[in-house]
Amino acid sequence: MARDHGFHPVRIKRVIQETPDARTFVLDAPFSYRAGQFLTLRICGTLRSYSLSSSPDADDEPATTVKRVPGGLVSNWMHDHLGPGDVVESTLPAGVFCLRESDAPLVAFCGGSGITPIMSLVKSALATTGRRVRVLAADRDADSVIFASALAELAGRHPGRFEIRHHLDAEQGLVTEAEVRAFAGGDLDADFYLCGPAPFMDLVERVLLDLGVAPERILVERFEQAAADDEPAGEETGGTVTIVLNGRRHTVPQHSGESLLESARRAGLAPPFSCEAGNCATCIAQVTEGEAKMRVNNALDEDEVADGWVLTCQGEPVTPHLTVVYDD
Ligand SMILES: Cc1cc2nc3c(=O)[nH]c(=O)nc-3n(C[C@H](O)[C@H](O)[C@H](O)COP(=O)(O)OP(=O)(O)OC[C@H]3O[C@@H](n4cnc5c(N)ncnc54)[C@H](O)[C@@H]3O)c2cc1C
Ligand code: FES
Repeated sequence: MARDHGFHPVRIKRVIQETPDARTFVLDAPFSYRAGQFLTLRICGTLRSYSLSSSPDADDEPATTVKRVPGGLVSNWMHDHLGPGDVVESTLPAGVFCLRESDAPLVAFCGGSGITPIMSLVKSALATTGRRVRVLAADRDADSVIFASALAELAGRHPGRFEIRHHLDAEQGLVTEAEVRAFAGGDLDADFYLCGPAPFMDLVERVLLDLGVAPERILVERFEQAAADDEPAGEETGGTVTIVLNGRRHTVPQHSGESLLESARRAGLAPPFSCEAGNCATCIAQVTEGEAKMRVNNALDEDEVADGWVLTCQGEPVTPHLTVVYDD
């Protein structure tokens, strides 16, 4: 079945000030979604992804929670300009950072705004399963903790089943390897969910792997954008890449090591993109001839990949000729 990757108008219903620099935008949007998924918003022509912090199983209305990034274009614009009744453009929910069919405990490590998809997952796991759930939430200081009272309330409602542990950098310094080991504790057969700043997630992932946790039990959601890539394109391979954008075909010579997004840019085109790190699916397109391999895929599920969808910022041709079609 064809997937809808287009943008739709979504009205902001309410805005909740969670902390001095985090706001929840409650949305008037009747879409269905899975806990842990995200939306991509088009704000003033710029694309940014935001996780749904609400749970489809515990909340009546979808909501996303946005933290100001110092100097950041979209997060600050949303805080400063978006209010009830305003309309933004959004994709339908997407992403694969979701609950798996399992009775195993769920253990989450999150930092800062990384609590957003974790909150959704926690609420759904508690509402729809009997799984034990534990969260270590790392924040700068007590004022920066998003959802502090909602998390405390969940712990009160699910004694013995839900544990929230807060780590405050201002009091304890950065999270250490020993702390990760201690929190993972005896739950090595758990599903581990990680979302936060890259160095924090890298530390947690390394410690979990050292402890012997199976890689497929570690689910990671990355918010960050790729650093600018100034690498020149590789040699011409003799093949071609054909890009169909806005219904028009453009063919360029294939270069080794070049992503489909880079090939499209070399053709003088301006296809959609945001993170350029395989995290957000903004750059999605469908391969209709030939084959591409993704370096990183943190956003498309197996069915989408089987149907030929590719993250063009990560896809490289593996056949001499390839055609990739962007949705209109
Ligand atoms: C799948 C996905 C889900 C996301 N979910 C959420 C969410 O629920 N809540 C939320 O607040 N954000 C979330 N993000 C991050 C969000 O998409 C933006 O990257 C973030 O709001 C910054 O955008 P900006 O336009 O304000 O800053 P930009 O103008 O893009 O960047 C300004 C500066 O900040 C740096 N920067 C960019 N992004 C980050 C970041 N995430 N952390 C620290 N520094 C950064 C840049 O390198 C640059 O120097 C998510 C990202 C992805 C890919
Ligand atoms: S631009 Fe985000 S996955 Fe390609």
